[in-house]
Amino acid sequence: MNLNKWIRQTHRWLSLAITLGVIVNFVAVALRKYNVWVGLLALIPFALLMLTGLYLFALPYIAKMNRWQVAKRPARAAFSDQLSAVSQTARADS
Ligand code: HEM
Repeated sequence: MNLNKWIRQTHRWLSLAITLGVIVNFVAVALRKYNVWVGLLALIPFALLMLTGLYLFALPYIAKMNRWQVAKRPARAAFSDQLSAVSQTARADS
């Protein structure tokens, strides 16, 4: 499994973990049993969801940038060929 797929799957399973964490938080508040550890049950999955989510968000833009770089490469190579041909001609003329 490649990295992108792995991160998407992790994000998906973390979404279940945070859902349970939030439910536990509500129950703890209702029973007046709330404390820092209960809060962390939702906060830790959220931090991981945020990291993996931001990665997923950036993916299409990274792919677009890569496509742009690949598309640009032949044009740049052709331009550099022309440039060296022109400078060779100029040298031959002088
Ligand atoms: C700061 C927090 C989060 C960020 C930045 C974020 C961002 C994203 C992004 C960019 C995607 C991919 C959308 C796409 O192109 O298809 C995604 C997918 C998803 N997100 Fe989040 N997300 C966050 C939090 C959450 C939370 C709190 C949940 C649920 C409780 C959640 C559940 C999902 C699910 C189920 C998917 C679909 C995954 C798949 O394709 O299998 N995310 N999220």
